[in-house]
Amino acid sequence: MAETVIDTVTSVPVAVVGAGPAGLMLAHLLGRAGVETVVVDTRTRREIETTQRAGILEADVARDLVETGVSERILRDGYEHEGVELRFGGRAHRIDFKALVGAAVWLYPQTDVFIDLADARDRDGGTVHFGVTDTEVLDVTTDAPRVRYTAADGTRHEIRARYVVGADGSRGMCRDLVPEDRRVRYGKEYPFAWFGILAEAPMSAPELIYAHSEHGFALISQRSEAVQRMYFQCRPDESVDAWSDDRVWDTLQARVAGEDGFRLKEGRVFEKTVLRFRSFVQEPMRWGSLVLAGDAAHTVPPTGARGLNLALHDVKVLAEVLLRALGEAGDTALDDYQPRALQRVWRAQSFSFWMTRLLHTAPDGTPYDLRRQLGELDNVVGTRAGRTYLAEQYTGWPTARAEH
Ligand code: PHB
Repeated sequence: MAETVIDTVTSVPVAVVGAGPAGLMLAHLLGRAGVETVVVDTRTRREIETTQRAGILEADVARDLVETGVSERILRDGYEHEGVELRFGGRAHRIDFKALVGAAVWLYPQTDVFIDLADARDRDGGTVHFGVTDTEVLDVTTDAPRVRYTAADGTRHEIRARYVVGADGSRGMCRDLVPEDRRVRYGKEYPFAWFGILAEAPMSAPELIYAHSEHGFALISQRSEAVQRMYFQCRPDESVDAWSDDRVWDTLQARVAGEDGFRLKEGRVFEKTVLRFRSFVQEPMRWGSLVLAGDAAHTVPPTGARGLNLALHDVKVLAEVLLRALGEAGDTALDDYQPRALQRVWRAQSFSFWMTRLLHTAPDGTPYDLRRQLGELDNVVGTRAGRTYLAEQYTGWPTARAEH
């Protein structure tokens, strides 16, 4: 750890560890209410901007980003999708969100959400320090917690705050600050991962395709007219080096093939990544003056497209609760946060787990498992209750309200 000589000390009501979408959106919402923050992140802005993440926003989340002045761009560069396609048994089945539940989602990549949030912080004069090292969070069980870090230029800084928000993601340090004997970690590992690609190719379909096949799962997503995002189920220890473009396309084509002769439009693959994932929740989400938000507290497999939406829901509730806590209500206002955030967290855990199990083949799967899965898929697309369940969960739930 760096020496204790501190070059600057800054006091703000809220210090935020983590400048991903959760941390920056929280800073933005607090900033709009006149509450100053300092946000720090170990990653550089460039690193975050170039990390590919998921791409689906609930309509409410997209609207919040537009209405709070973060992103007009969603309306221009995003794509509103009124449904998705489930493909199995070699056939296409559309789930019509609009008709079933009157909702839609927006295809707008998390990377772009981050770019818009970082630009909005710049525009509004918010303080965000990227590329910091030696981050330490101190005194979280007091009402004067501190964050110390070394800036990119080597200088040491201390932020004194009333609250510290841990929005530092699934590999962050903040969740570890809740003592081991006071926290519970719930989790589940999966025996597969996703192989993700970006390709220079035209769109293969107007909406997302979630494909089940005996060879495993595939997801056909998009980025723009000219760039496509696709994934296929692979082994967790898969190496990208073993995958030529031809092998990637053969694998994807086999997983979407069917009697309708559907084929993906191919093109140069310019990014290949293996994405491991798991289901995880840590409770409590608050410890003294430290509050966890987003992936720092919970992660879901990407199958249900819930992760970013969940993180942004956390900070919407948290911003409201922190404003009350910093005002007349004091510390007890924070008691509201966990119950309101967790209800959605566990709903999303359930939906993401269900959707993952519905569509992936387990390495030790039997012919029975495969047939049962096809039966379940038939129940989903072939019954109104099944279609409605998927539509309702995928498009999100209304923001949890305060009890009082
Ligand atoms: C994506 O476009 O990257 C994407 C979309 C839906 C998912 C996961 C990822 O469920």
